[in-house]
Amino acid sequence: MGASLLLPSWLLVGALILALVASLPTRGLAHPQRTSITRRYIFNVNLTNVTRLCHRKSIVTVNGQFPGPPIVAREGDRLLVKVINHSPYNLTLHWHGLRQLRNGWADGPAYITQCPIRPGQSYVYNFTVAGQRGTLWWHAHASWLRATIYGAIVILPKLGTPYPFPKPHREVPLILGEWWNADPESIISQALRTGGGPNVSDAYTINGLPGPLYNCSAKDVFRMKVRPGRTYLLRLVNAALNEDLFFAVAGHNLTVVEADAVYVKPFVTETLMITPGQTTNVLLHTRPAFPNATFLIAAGPYVTGAGTFDGSVTAGLLQYLPPPPPPGSSSSPVIPIKKLRLFKPSLPSFNDTSFVTAFNSRFRSLRSSEFQSNKVPLTVDRHFFFTVGLGTAPCPANRTCQGPNGAKFAAAVNNISFILPATALLQAHFTGNGRLKGVYDGDFPSRPLVPFNYTGPPPKNTLVSAATKVVELPFNTSVELVMQDTSILSAESHPLHLHGFNFFVVGQGFGNFDPNKDPADYNLVDPVERNTVSVPAGGWLAVRFLADNPGVWFMHCHLEVHTSWGLRMAWTVKDGPLPGQKLLPPPPDLPKC
Ligand code: C2O
Repeated sequence: MGASLLLPSWLLVGALILALVASLPTRGLAHPQRTSITRRYIFNVNLTNVTRLCHRKSIVTVNGQFPGPPIVAREGDRLLVKVINHSPYNLTLHWHGLRQLRNGWADGPAYITQCPIRPGQSYVYNFTVAGQRGTLWWHAHASWLRATIYGAIVILPKLGTPYPFPKPHREVPLILGEWWNADPESIISQALRTGGGPNVSDAYTINGLPGPLYNCSAKDVFRMKVRPGRTYLLRLVNAALNEDLFFAVAGHNLTVVEADAVYVKPFVTETLMITPGQTTNVLLHTRPAFPNATFLIAAGPYVTGAGTFDGSVTAGLLQYLPPPPPPGSSSSPVIPIKKLRLFKPSLPSFNDTSFVTAFNSRFRSLRSSEFQSNKVPLTVDRHFFFTVGLGTAPCPANRTCQGPNGAKFAAAVNNISFILPATALLQAHFTGNGRLKGVYDGDFPSRPLVPFNYTGPPPKNTLVSAATKVVELPFNTSVELVMQDTSILSAESHPLHLHGFNFFVVGQGFGNFDPNKDPADYNLVDPVERNTVSVPAGGWLAVRFLADNPGVWFMHCHLEVHTSWGLRMAWTVKDGPLPGQKLLPPPPDLPKC
């Protein structure tokens, strides 16, 4: 398939949303229709040629589109997504942030909930959107294939239910990504072989386009055309592999109204920070009159680790349409864009942790009973304390490695670098003898086996161990989890993502978590509810969740290189006693290992 077939998918989703919103009944209608429907999508995964930064290459796409096609649904709808793998890779797709109640079979992480879809095979992801509305996204969940296989999920509220904020004039998905001129699959396989850090990306992108600040990219620019005096909803997704990103629109404030498909108390900011995995909806109010100017939309990295990184900035353009012609004249004056002043936003410096800390602490749940089905657990059945961070693994005999001190980079939770099994954990769990068959162990430690000064001077021994261990939880356990960053190699913030649940963020701080002092400051009133949380560099973050979703659920750092190095683990939640509390049986077409 040629590059000419690539469709700007944000245009498509814009049209789709318009069509759906146009079908909304006017408010005050006596009996709004609330029926749910089934929406079917066909996702053909294939290789497609695209050119960016003057490099033409073959990338893996869905339906030849980059970014991939948006999924648009309403709360309550059922989705049937048939994935047909015409690519040469083993792959799976994941519907990031969708809770998949009792239905881990549709969740997607390779070797956790399913075996990969092999080349030539297909699988139908069959799931219902329950109790969620807002922006989420989908992406490949095997190796680094999500570098090019990703798209937005737009969940509109039920028919007749308005947003808890002014109705936007238009809605625009805006997906931030990361682009390599080389093949991302070779980059990660080489890095895992040598033990060194992977090559950094060549550009960041907005809806697949690097924008005008890169060489040979003047035509690949995302443009958003707006009219004065209107409100637009930007549905932001960070689909980058390895970088947290700052985001701003020159000359415009942004009002944050939703995060990870949960409404938040609105707040105004000039700049956002969004980690890989996170989604954030913001309102943009345009200037009251034609400003005689164009404004850059920009995103650039927030970096805390010690390694090299792509420090470039991606940009798109916010363009005001010219005002309508003055009365009496027939045409409006055409103002060439080159004649307009161009404003650029100033993003925080790449390591501005104080900005990030202040920004993250502004998120609060809206706590409207109409919208929030989940509640923060006020009591805790089980406490967990997990260290998260990098370490090393030994270099194999007779080899030289390019990681720290001649070893290999590794990453771990409670010093365990998680090894993916050869068969899917969920299948092993469902057949009831996962442990007997030696697929996994159920004894993932609830705290570090050897406590140390986690954020102090690095210990001499930086080696991690390796295993396939899970935490086993009875149905409806209320869990408190404190995630503690380590400075073993260097302090670094980690976006931790949990499948199957949202976390409530009840506390965070710098240094080592103090169980005697810190819980006194927890926010149990209106904590933000998210599926991906940013553990501060050299600090800790406390979350709570209710384990009411039976199955096996992956938790990992959403910096893809850290996941590859082992910063990942899984929770199994056992069935409850009642019929509606049990994991559903697997679908017949579930891929086999
Ligand atoms: Cu968006 Cu397990 O990932």
